[in-house]
Amino acid sequence: MIRSVIKGFGAYLPERRLTNFDLEKMVDTSDEWIVERTGIRERRIAANDETTGSLAIRAAREALANASLTPNQIDLIILATTTPDETLPATATKVQAALGMTSGFAFDIQAACSGFMYALSVADNYIRTGAIRNALVIGADTLSRIVDWTDRNTCVLFGDGAGAVILSAEEGQGTTTDSGILSLILRSDGANRNMLISSGGVSASQSVGKILMEGREVFRFAVENMSKIAHEILSNNGFTIADVDCLVPHQANIRIIDATCRKLGIPSDKVILTLADQGNTSGASVAMALYDGITRGRIKHGDLLLLETMGAGLTWSAGLIRY
Ligand code: ACO
Repeated sequence: MIRSVIKGFGAYLPERRLTNFDLEKMVDTSDEWIVERTGIRERRIAANDETTGSLAIRAAREALANASLTPNQIDLIILATTTPDETLPATATKVQAALGMTSGFAFDIQAACSGFMYALSVADNYIRTGAIRNALVIGADTLSRIVDWTDRNTCVLFGDGAGAVILSAEEGQGTTTDSGILSLILRSDGANRNMLISSGGVSASQSVGKILMEGREVFRFAVENMSKIAHEILSNNGFTIADVDCLVPHQANIRIIDATCRKLGIPSDKVILTLADQGNTSGASVAMALYDGITRGRIKHGDLLLLETMGAGLTWSAGLIRY
């Protein structure tokens, strides 16, 4: 059985730091409130001459080098983003051109904070069917461009960044001891789409709009559904929570992560956390947490990883990967 195995990884964070103390000067908030309610201390903001595409290109170059692959060995680029550089064409084609990749194909995918997992799932299916061998999967966002910087309910939460992985085809036994993506579950619930939405869009208003969120409802939805989907994916694959070496959750709010961990019964020392320094980077969040875990040596070869996301749509997902 063909498996999609992580062969390389990369990430990029813009240099500019926006701390909670900076935000105190912009809206009626405090460092104490933000830390207590979210766990976030600072986030990175893209410079004026940076875009989602330029962040993605930096992460992609590192992932390629890490995998020791040349651009033309990549068959497919999928970029998960909610903040593309232009309305058309896909920002993934900008990455393709910048890498000097003259073959294969590239496209964007949009599932907000679950985007990276949706992109992994599409790439995994292309690989497992034998249609392609190597995919570059990127999560990148510049949510700072669509945040309402006068709305304290949302502007304290988000940051910019990009994370990337190279997935490559490898022969496995078809058992859960294989390396690579073992299982992914994607979910969406359009009936609750208004809980987290932008105030405009290309066709609706010929503008990009700003983020609007019913925070409390999204919070409740996240805790309930992230623990449920985690149980589902573990039992589908014959695992229990004790088998998981590392939880790599979407970095939205420390209280969502803590509550989910309590419901799952997973100890906090198994959880990868980046949100204190990065905030919620939307499509990049899980990709960058993965990068952080691997580069800091928290994630080791052979570890069983449980990934989870929750975002606008509403969308949510879980994944089991043996690194
Ligand atoms: N500083 C100070 N006070 C604030 C701030 C702030 N930055 N933001 C809100 N408040 C106030 C509110 O106005 C409210 O005041 P009131 O009681 O006088 O009305 C009070 O704090 C409590 O507000 P709540 O919304 O109940 O605060 P809560 O504890 O729920 O925290 C938060 C808000 C952090 C937004 C939380 O609900 C949350 O994290 N929600 C989920 C976010 C998320 O996961 N998003 C999903 C992914 S994002 C994506 O897909 C793009």
